[in-house]
Amino acid sequence: MSAPQILGTGRCVPERVVTNDELGRTLDTSDAWIYGRTGIHSRHFCTAETGADLAETAARRAMEAAEVSPGDIGVCLTATCSPDRASPSTACTLQGRLGLPEDTVCFDLNAACAGFLYGVHTAHALLAASPRPYALVVGVEVLSRLLDRTDRNTCVLFGDGAGAAVLRRDEGRQWHTLFGTRADGHAIWVQGPGPERAAIHMDGRAVFRFAIEVVERSIRQLLDAEGCTLDQVDLVVCHQANQRIIDHAAKKLGAREGQFFKNMETYGNTSAASIPIALDELARSGALRPGMRVLCVGFGAGLTWAGMIFQW
Ligand SMILES: CC(C)(COP(=O)(O)OP(=O)(O)OC[C@H]1O[C@@H](n2cnc3c(N)ncnc32)[C@H](O)[C@@H]1OP(=O)(O)O)[C@@H](O)C(=O)NCCC(=O)NCCS
Repeated sequence: MSAPQILGTGRCVPERVVTNDELGRTLDTSDAWIYGRTGIHSRHFCTAETGADLAETAARRAMEAAEVSPGDIGVCLTATCSPDRASPSTACTLQGRLGLPEDTVCFDLNAACAGFLYGVHTAHALLAASPRPYALVVGVEVLSRLLDRTDRNTCVLFGDGAGAAVLRRDEGRQWHTLFGTRADGHAIWVQGPGPERAAIHMDGRAVFRFAIEVVERSIRQLLDAEGCTLDQVDLVVCHQANQRIIDHAAKKLGAREGQFFKNMETYGNTSAASIPIALDELARSGALRPGMRVLCVGFGAGLTWAGMIFQW
């Protein structure tokens, strides 16, 4: 058995903070509505920064925390559904900016808000055939450039940011993962490059129903696979889409106070970046310590979901 060990994390968000009150100046919405429905007070939006800028800073911080240098990295994956360009990939840009060796496996993957967990799974598999022992996995989004700023149903929910992790394969560890896909182009979809204006389209209620179904079920499946109870899990880190989705799962599963981490209040939904940003906050605050048992679940457009239970 082999599992990834996360050795260091990093995060980076754009400087500009956009509060609910600011959105309420141009939209028919309010802090009370947004916070009450989602748990979000503010988010960061890029101004001059690009996704590659955010990803580079998060990656440098993760490498510093892990005490690895660019020459140690054998795999570099970027999870994103809002890349700066369709091609070259953000991972390719990172190879140049970070000075990773030319034979590093570098590519972007798109699994929407579950992207970081798909990235960790893929990087762990690729490391088995890598000449060097470390992988860099970055979740990065600049969703502000895809938002229709006149659509109050969607534009209040999302934010920009990047989170990164450096990991290696540890042959002495075990972990359990699950992945799911249910093709649905209506509940939530993003207009890509083309003649139509970029925008995120969403049936909020359908996405909410999907999320509460898969989060609870995924956690139960992972606990079964691991052979433990929720009580024996130190921290649950779900995709930070909405406070009500997380609170619903925590209540249904009988979680203890604070066991399900939440930080969407100041980030909004940063899609593929939300789980690594959360892990980095927890690691740097000292709440996440070596040996802890962590359970992560991501879900989003696709519909796509993923979960993993592992040791920090
Ligand atoms: C989006 C979401 C917060 C909407 O909450 P809801 O309780 O389902 O609200 P509804 O969509 O039914 O809308 C209720 C009313 O609020 C209005 N409304 C929608 N957005 C609003 C906003 N930002 N401010 C004020 N009112 C708003 C609607 O127009 C509707 O008005 P109406 O009753 O006059 O038609 C909720 O459905 C949700 O969280 N869904 C999951 C979204 C998600 O997490 N997506 C990303 C997944 S990765």
